[in-house]
Amino acid sequence: MSIHIGAKPGQIAPTVLLPGDPLRAKHFAETLLEDVFCFNEVRGMMGYTGRYRDKRISVMGSGMGMPTLAIYVNELVCEYQVKTLIRVGTCGAFQPYLKLGDIVLAMTASTDSHMNKLRFNGMDYAPVATFELLLKAYEAAKERQANVYVGGMFAGDSFYHDDPNWWKKWADYGVLVVEMETSALYTLAAKFKVEALSILTVSDNLATGEASTAEQREKGFTRMAEIALALSP
Ligand code: HPA
Repeated sequence: MSIHIGAKPGQIAPTVLLPGDPLRAKHFAETLLEDVFCFNEVRGMMGYTGRYRDKRISVMGSGMGMPTLAIYVNELVCEYQVKTLIRVGTCGAFQPYLKLGDIVLAMTASTDSHMNKLRFNGMDYAPVATFELLLKAYEAAKERQANVYVGGMFAGDSFYHDDPNWWKKWADYGVLVVEMETSALYTLAAKFKVEALSILTVSDNLATGEASTAEQREKGFTRMAEIALALSP
């Protein structure tokens, strides 16, 4: 047991999928894995290990935002020897051509978070995805006829902003989408020398005002999960 995860040593697989929502983790485990057991209920951040074909795989909620995700990633890697972290989450699009349900593979993450400013004494660090995972995910998405984009995204500390136009500068500089976790995920993966990728589905578009229904989000999640499962060795 670590401070925030109730698993015993060996109960978490080397590859962990990280949806933000712990109930997504439960749903994923119940619908896509076999021989499942629950390794964590601490703080309701459900975590499960099971088998997909002949591979052991775990899935656990990461919560929303970088401080929360960072706690779990630290403990998963340092206390449970996790080697591959795959975030499966939703994102808001900055570019008008991105449609609801499109997949974005995060190559790198810009951020307004101060976590890396503190870590690097005020300097900027450019967190990046693990290229092999990115390439495999791209191929897996293409095989499934998904509309898939690869590029930079923005990992923000705020969901709600005072200025409704806050995102436009990032959009002008080619940033594709916003979510709230990837900068911390990629930075910690680099620090601990493990692999990481964020697979994101567009759930809303800030440029067009479109937003997904619950059913569309569900469909998007299943497709991300399939792509993520195609990545594990
Ligand atoms: N902002 C931040 N995170 C998100 C969004 C958003 O618009 N959509 C999905 N995750």
